[in-house]
Amino acid sequence: MNKAIIRIRHIAFKVIVRVLPFPEPEILSGKGLSSGVYELMLKNNCKKPLIVTDKMLIRMNIIDGLIESLRANKVDYVIFNGVQPNPTIGNIEEGVKFYRENKCDSVIAFGGGSSIDCAKIIAAKITNRKDVYSMKGLFKIRRRLPYLVAIPTTAGTGSEVTVAAVITNENTHEKFAINDTKLIPSAYCLDPELLTGLPKGLTASTGMDALTHAIEAYIGWNGTSYTDKYAVDAIKIIFENLQRSYEDGKNLELRQEMLVASNYAGRAFTRASIGYVHAIAHNLGGLYNLPHGLANAIVLPYILEASKSKAYKKLARLARETGIADKSISDKEQADVFIGRIRHMNMLMGIPQYIPEIRERDIPYLADRIEKEGNPAYPVPKIFYKKDFEEILRTIRGEAVENKGIPTTIH
Ligand SMILES: [Fe+2]
Repeated sequence: MNKAIIRIRHIAFKVIVRVLPFPEPEILSGKGLSSGVYELMLKNNCKKPLIVTDKMLIRMNIIDGLIESLRANKVDYVIFNGVQPNPTIGNIEEGVKFYRENKCDSVIAFGGGSSIDCAKIIAAKITNRKDVYSMKGLFKIRRRLPYLVAIPTTAGTGSEVTVAAVITNENTHEKFAINDTKLIPSAYCLDPELLTGLPKGLTASTGMDALTHAIEAYIGWNGTSYTDKYAVDAIKIIFENLQRSYEDGKNLELRQEMLVASNYAGRAFTRASIGYVHAIAHNLGGLYNLPHGLANAIVLPYILEASKSKAYKKLARLARETGIADKSISDKEQADVFIGRIRHMNMLMGIPQYIPEIRERDIPYLADRIEKEGNPAYPVPKIFYKKDFEEILRTIRGEAVENKGIPTTIH
């Protein structure tokens, strides 16, 4: 597909997104407020929610406050704890069966992006009798979902406010996105207490996922004044708080700031779209089971560097807005400062610089899949094709460094 056709698709998408109505969820935000979710259920006449979560959150007792408050206020519930780290079509079918068998009337998503995405599609299947895979793509969901509350326990995906759910087809290992404004939850709750036990590695990688959302939304072609504002605010908050939150995980204020940043980044990218960092991360995740946030964190500086000739003005603006660059230096130098800041954050949080798991023999296949995912879907500042992705993947693999016998990862 040539560049002109790709750009026409980007412009068409931009027009569609501008006229789409994005529903605004009801918001609970603050320490301990997940114990107030029962009020939302009572107010909306929900008598029996299905709680969609994973086994780890139950084992770590993170869900206890929510459950005790539902019980104390006589809201009946059932728990579906079968969500896998990359939720599958099978997980969704199981959840739907559980919902129907227990005669539920609403859904509470409790967990990271996996639980929230899985809950969204369980809810979508309740009112839309079609295969999960046939929902792939844009606007395939016709009927409104049952009442759905999202309670994130990580600060990264922003899924509580996005139109997207990423699901894995366990038979083909394909990760695919379902996008529809009907997938925006009816309400969400940002409670920092739920994040205080999050391990350092997950704090870092999920936070870098949020940073990637904000940067890709900002530097792409589809930004609006609304998305630019939320993206810039998210980046500012992440620069100020992510590393501190990584060092001091029990600090509720820092956790709350990061929840807000993830939410702002979600608001920005769900309207302005993501970019090639995500296309690469999705495909590396599908093939090598790399965690999404970690893959994004590693790939982000490489794509910014490769896109710099077309993106340096916006990157320089981000460097100025976040106060990290001296205004007396050129835009190109300011863009370098911005990219350097991301590399530095990665280094301080123990995120590797390379992905040596990438196998040479997989590179042509991966590059092809990345091009197919990214073009024309993502309104990126600089368009790349298969050959460019092959080169980028070799750099991310640490090939040049490996040949010199230098270690390919930081730890
Ligand atoms: Fe992401």
